[in-house]
Amino acid sequence: MTAPPFPKGTLVMGPMTKGSNLPYRRLCAEFGAQVTMSEMTVARRLKQKRKSEFALIRPFEGESCFGVQLAGTNPEELAWAAALCESRGARLIDLNCGCPIDYFTHKGLGASLGRQPARQRRLVGAIKAAVSIPVTAKIRLGWNDDSRNYLEQAQAIVEAGADALVVHGRTRSARYRTAADWQAIAEIAEAVPIPVIGNGDILYGHDVEPSIARGQCHAAMTARGALIRPWLFREVHEGYRDLGGEDRLEIYRRYVTLARQHWGDDDFGLTRVRTFTRWHLDFWCRDARPDEAGQFPSMQVRIADPQARTPLEAVLARADAQALDYLADTLTWEREVIPGEVPAPGPATGDPRELPASDEEPEG
Ligand SMILES: Cc1cc2nc3c(=O)[nH]c(=O)nc-3n(C[C@H](O)[C@H](O)[C@H](O)COP(=O)(O)O)c2cc1C
Repeated sequence: MTAPPFPKGTLVMGPMTKGSNLPYRRLCAEFGAQVTMSEMTVARRLKQKRKSEFALIRPFEGESCFGVQLAGTNPEELAWAAALCESRGARLIDLNCGCPIDYFTHKGLGASLGRQPARQRRLVGAIKAAVSIPVTAKIRLGWNDDSRNYLEQAQAIVEAGADALVVHGRTRSARYRTAADWQAIAEIAEAVPIPVIGNGDILYGHDVEPSIARGQCHAAMTARGALIRPWLFREVHEGYRDLGGEDRLEIYRRYVTLARQHWGDDDFGLTRVRTFTRWHLDFWCRDARPDEAGQFPSMQVRIADPQARTPLEAVLARADAQALDYLADTLTWEREVIPGEVPAPGPATGDPRELPASDEEPEG
């Protein structure tokens, strides 16, 4: 067994399709994220030499511990892809056993692997034999409430020689709708001899310690927390930060700077920067402060009307297309945000407490 490449209590930035883009990982690293993960990368697409897939496995210069998450069903392909990723700077390989999306599960990838622990064992074993860096697998608790086979999955992955196990505390059919079950994570951590990284609903720095304690884990992982509040990684050490509108805008501008450096500031690059910035704004607008009683909102609750203190904060809290498009344009083209200029919201299209489209069907 290879030691996990990070100390106990670490908050890992989770693998996120689109969300774990290189400039966003850089942003989170600037706030102290020391372990970062790639977007889900399909081993077969690497084999097919697809440029877009190769872009996913590239670390940024100085990225302290970059893990690549692979998806696949074929042991030879996964072994080949894992060795390739190691040769290109990955410090960790993770096997995706949690992606809930039909397109992938119908091909046997992602969460459907959770229904076949024997196959999980073969795949993890093949990856393990191909690399010298730590190997992990990221599982859900099971397919649905009637088949919560997490102990069986964990056992298979341990037997294959994995160095750690990442557990997203929900089933495939729960997707993101229910609160993560940290009790089940603790059951797994008690049952296996390898470190467990617990995942689900960490939104503030002060969520990390109690979650790790509840899950009896080695470390924790955050995904949406990092998308909504990238400064969360600093909060883990420095405590809660009540950022005003200007502070938040500065962070978003920093992302745009990193994104322009990455994609370039020609027409092609700026189109990418704009697309990604618009996507991130859909999460950034969800940052909310504690209520008057000092209660912090949970990940599962969307605050329809956070208590904005300034016109800028009111604009940053808006989740309608008019505000998000305005902000995406002004940030991308480095113009000043003038709250009075922001168009009024269009007709309401849904319940504001629902999750944005971007997180309803994340590819993972
Ligand atoms: C936009 C988005 C994309 C995701 N993509 C992946 C992925 O590529 N691979 C994966 O294992 N999980 C993926 N996930 C799931 C997260 O890694 C994580 O398991 C899940 O969001 C629960 O953690 P959270 O409550 O901290 O968000 C994604 C989640 C989101 C929100």
